Amino acid sequence: MAQVRVTVDGVEYVDDVEPRTLLVYYLRERLGKVGTVVGCDTSNCGACTVHLDGRSVKSCAVLAVQVDGCEVTTIEGLARDGELHPVQKAFHECHALQCGFCTPGMILQAIDLLGDNSDPDEQEVREGIEGNLCRCTGYQNIVRAVQSAAQAMKPGAAARVEAPVTVAGD
Ligand code: FES
Ligand code: FES
Repeated sequence: MAQVRVTVDGVEYVDDVEPRTLLVYYLRERLGKVGTVVGCDTSNCGACTVHLDGRSVKSCAVLAVQVDGCEVTTIEGLARDGELHPVQKAFHECHALQCGFCTPGMILQAIDLLGDNSDPDEQEVREGIEGNLCRCTGYQNIVRAVQSAAQAMKPGAAARVEAPVTVAGD
């Protein structure tokens, strides 16, 4: 067992984990963050995407022990005071989902993309989300949603979410 101390969605956790435990299973099975889903387990689909210290990663490609001392944001940590994140809102308003399985990872990836490029054109959005697969939508509305969110987040609004830190059990 190895100890990991990590802040997830603004709450600090200290846990003993098997060194081979993948971050996605730590999030889902230990912390109950089931909004982060497993689509392939082989780092292909992007459904498990979370933010690690503000950048998107596929959490099936990261060991839980590797996030010791880090900050993780999942889809469950994006809303603030009952308000959805602008990218979440845009996905809702643009009907950018059908089954919704890809949506958490797609939204986390889109936020990361907008952090690098606050006004992406269609091609830049498509390239920015190319590591996230959707089997339902044909991507058209997803691209629209990302561009719509970009407009909603102007001018210069922070694309990355900084969660207030509290300690579990406090
Ligand atoms: S479950 Fe991680 S990329 Fe598919
Ligand atoms: S909405 Fe079903 S996989 Fe994307």
